[in-house]
Amino acid sequence: MFDLIIRSANLPDGRQGVDVGVRGGKISAIEKTLAATSGEEIDATGRLLSPPFCDPHFHMDATLSLGLPRMNVSGTLLEGIALWGELRPSLTKEALIERALRYCDLAVSQGLLAIRSHVDTSDPRLVTAEALLEVKEKVAPYIDLQLVAFPQDGYFRAPDGVASLNRALDMGVGIVGGIPHFERTMADGTRSVEALCRIAAERGLPVDMHCDETDDPLSRHIETLAAETVRFGLQGRVAGSHLTSMHSMDNYYVSKLIPLMAEARINVIPNPLINIMLQGRHDTYPKRRGMTRVKELMAAGLNVSFGHDCVMDPWYSMGSGDMLEVAHMAVHVTQMGGIEDKRKIFDAITVNSAKTMGLEGYGLDIGCKADLVLLQAADINEALRLKPNRLFVIKAGKIIARTAPRIGELFLDGRPASIDIGLDYIPQTGGS
Ligand code: FE2
Repeated sequence: MFDLIIRSANLPDGRQGVDVGVRGGKISAIEKTLAATSGEEIDATGRLLSPPFCDPHFHMDATLSLGLPRMNVSGTLLEGIALWGELRPSLTKEALIERALRYCDLAVSQGLLAIRSHVDTSDPRLVTAEALLEVKEKVAPYIDLQLVAFPQDGYFRAPDGVASLNRALDMGVGIVGGIPHFERTMADGTRSVEALCRIAAERGLPVDMHCDETDDPLSRHIETLAAETVRFGLQGRVAGSHLTSMHSMDNYYVSKLIPLMAEARINVIPNPLINIMLQGRHDTYPKRRGMTRVKELMAAGLNVSFGHDCVMDPWYSMGSGDMLEVAHMAVHVTQMGGIEDKRKIFDAITVNSAKTMGLEGYGLDIGCKADLVLLQAADINEALRLKPNRLFVIKAGKIIARTAPRIGELFLDGRPASIDIGLDYIPQTGGS
């Protein structure tokens, strides 16, 4: 007897038409046909059942603040930082909580059930940390929310940067952040990486730094981050977010850098939507893409996961909490359009991001948590292509969101009366 059975589902690893049985909040059976009955059943009818999407890089304190107090006219990263600095003194805990909870609702409806959010610690009032710690507790039944102490204005550069970051960690923010490329000098950036890794080692915390989010090929803080990771014994517990300067680096230098990153088991977190929007701003033509070397990093065995980074905030006026939108951009900007490539891209917003975040019991195997998303698509190719509706979102075996399928109704002679956007017109070969 099961609490829930999802029948005839396709799984991301290629298994087709299987029944998934859930008991006690966990996946307890995956078979071609489950003879048993259950309290509740969902007929997946050959649609894709995935573990939930995980976003390893987000800014929940800034989300949905677009237009406050004004729009970003140049559209650049630096004006975004300045604009956020204008808004910050007027932030209230109540408003931060309200916006964050609205975003969490959106995330759940999109099957996004794990988010790592940076929390700006530059304002010593730390209302951002207070608010998001409260949000973390509120959403815990349905979203794994991890928080990173992030010195947006620079760990050494902001007047109270050092003390504020440490206080945020004391309050319970559980990951050490940083922004070495925004410190006053390269040397200060290097010092900040050393200091922040030391704090992480002393407190037993992971590290997740905004690192080298610039087109400057000489911005090489990732080298220091990897070296300090090894020195402090933090292998596998450190993430380098963005790493856009690697796009512009000299190939010879990169041939030394990537093995060093692999030795440190750095988790790499590019943010395709934001990187393609914000980088290359000082170029005329040809214009660089500002995307780190995803294909090469994956080939070297590094764990690469994609972040959403921003949704309707001072840096990015778009976004919808949909990790498939992030992956869709990644397919294009990394030029990874082959079938095996697309599997890797899908992994980057599911299993890889779960690994970056250290989530336990994640996946689609017996014994894993019954956290699941049923998509209006037959397989991962169609999921990436269509960004389809999330028909059911399930947390610990309970349905927590549902969306009706997109069905087009046609009124043309000699045409089908309706089309299922997610299932009809799929190439029978399974895609390109
Ligand atoms: Fe970010």
